[in-house]
Amino acid sequence: MTDHPRTIFALTGAGVSAESGLGTFRDRGGIWARFDPMRLATPEAYAADPDTVLDFYDHRRRGAVAAEPNAAHVALAQAEARLAARGGRLFLCTQNVDDLHERAGSQAVTHMHGELLKARCCACGAVTPWCADLSRADRCPACGASGRMRPDVVWFGEMPMHLDAIEAALAGADLFVAVGTSGAVYPAAGYVRQAWALGIPTCEVNLEPSDNADAFDEARYGPASAALPRYLAELGL
Ligand code: APR
Ligand code: ZN
Repeated sequence: MTDHPRTIFALTGAGVSAESGLGTFRDRGGIWARFDPMRLATPEAYAADPDTVLDFYDHRRRGAVAAEPNAAHVALAQAEARLAARGGRLFLCTQNVDDLHERAGSQAVTHMHGELLKARCCACGAVTPWCADLSRADRCPACGASGRMRPDVVWFGEMPMHLDAIEAALAGADLFVAVGTSGAVYPAAGYVRQAWALGIPTCEVNLEPSDNADAFDEARYGPASAALPRYLAELGL
């Protein structure tokens, strides 16, 4: 058991939002079991059939807007504040594109796969807040181009975001915690081994052992809304 850490790197995945009603990707009946990511989550899919891609993300965005943060999101927000009060830091890196961490009170959230509630213009690259449906009729608020707006999320084949900041934060952590992620998608799935190589203690908090389970020093299994607050309380947070 890790004594009280000062700098925690927390990596979250779809499992942290599962109890808020948002689907995971690789569980039974998950999003990629029902929809083909190659037809909906690649730049090529968007170029070939933008309306179908935009409809898919509009549906997910509506779900994210209607969802509420759960106790796992709240526990991470509280841990961030308690660590800061001690002069420490919680670096929250999420693979999720919803805004439940922010709505639970987390002040610093790094979205390495982008954000559903932002839109990006393919003509000028401008990123703007966007919580309505996206359609080809929409114009870019920055350059006025129409028919060029896409969700500001990372598709398969695209580079995740904020990688330099993530690597720097990982190198400076004294505890690495992964919550609600299958460990199936890189580079996020490789962070636990990078932490191990740096001598940083690691813990997985997940419903069940992930693909990466053997790489973690410790694990707490169960629904994140219960397992995560319990684990953070062990750390005095
Ligand atoms: N509490 C904790 N963990 C849970 C819960 C829960 N209530 N429900 C499911 N889980 C776990 C599952 O056991 C699984 O290990 O959450 C994990 C979800 O894994 P994935 O569905 O693969 O989601 P994630 O790891 O976030 O996927 C990574 O893949 O397609 C891309 O961009 C997508 O960001 C996503 C990335
Ligand atoms: Zn533009």
